[in-house]
Amino acid sequence: MGIKKTVSVLGLGRMGSSLAKALVDQGYEVTVWNRTPKELPNTRSVATPQEAFKSDVVITCLSTYDAQQPLLTNEIKTLVNLTSGTPEQARATARWAKDNGVEYVDGVIMAVPQQIGTEQAKIFFSGSENHHVLQAFGEPVYVGEDDAGLAALYDLALLGIMWAMFGGYLQAVALVGSEGIAPERFTPMAMSWLNEMSTLLPEMGEETRTRQYETDVSALDINVAGLRMLTEANREQGLDTTIPQALHDLFERAQRHGHGTHSIASVIEEIRK
Ligand SMILES: NC(=O)c1ccc[n+]([C@@H]2O[C@H](COP(=O)([O-])OP(=O)(O)OC[C@H]3O[C@@H](n4cnc5c(N)ncnc54)[C@H](OP(=O)(O)O)[C@@H]3O)[C@@H](O)[C@H]2O)c1
Repeated sequence: MGIKKTVSVLGLGRMGSSLAKALVDQGYEVTVWNRTPKELPNTRSVATPQEAFKSDVVITCLSTYDAQQPLLTNEIKTLVNLTSGTPEQARATARWAKDNGVEYVDGVIMAVPQQIGTEQAKIFFSGSENHHVLQAFGEPVYVGEDDAGLAALYDLALLGIMWAMFGGYLQAVALVGSEGIAPERFTPMAMSWLNEMSTLLPEMGEETRTRQYETDVSALDINVAGLRMLTEANREQGLDTTIPQALHDLFERAQRHGHGTHSIASVIEEIRK
């Protein structure tokens, strides 16, 4: 077995601390740096990022790119960036790395800190294919090809689904809750409904690809009427209507632009504008 590379972790927030612990568990020699000095068992804590750059691999996990950008220098050998950002931020960092002779891996963590080190944690990565360190955190999934921004693109696309689902769930809990129905009674129904609805995605995806929206299932007209009812019901129950109103307005715009008899997938024509 070869000698393991030395690794530094910059940022010991909730996620960075979990990453550093997972590396220690995998037998790596780990150096850590945090803006607010912090100790972590079995790691070497340093006072400046420059001291951390002596390691073979530097992992960054700060809150935002704005926080990490001022810290980066060409003293870094391999940078594994696990700070979340936009595809363009990832590409700009990849360009900076290339210009400065730094090997660059851009990764996104599709997990919460408690899942790090388990197979539930998927780490999407792009840029350099040098992913050995990522195996300590879960299952690395290379999405890179030539574009360092792709991991961030997948990350935000999937998070967008998650946020929409959580927003929809919380609105629904508030709606049934306004009549005294407890979340524990409603949540199993929501889970089973979401499972069933997710089986419709492949067909919907295909419709968006072919742009053929003829349907004998459910026309946009009927869904716009439904969203109007949902918005009204939330208002009647004294609740905020931001989410149903926004969906109603988007779907209604697609309807106005000639998609009333088409399937819900036709709403993508409005989104793509
Ligand atoms: N938590 C999750 O479930 C999760 C899941 C997937 C991805 N991520 C991503 O992982 C990254 C870190 O998230 P987190 O949950 O660990 O956040 P967090 O607990 O809020 O920690 C933020 C870290 O960033 C540091 N930081 C903030 N501003 C800084 C600055 N200007 N200069 C230097 N250091 C700065 C903080 O240092 P101080 O201790 O000094 O404040 C801390 O180490 C984010 O990009 C997040 O999107 C998190």
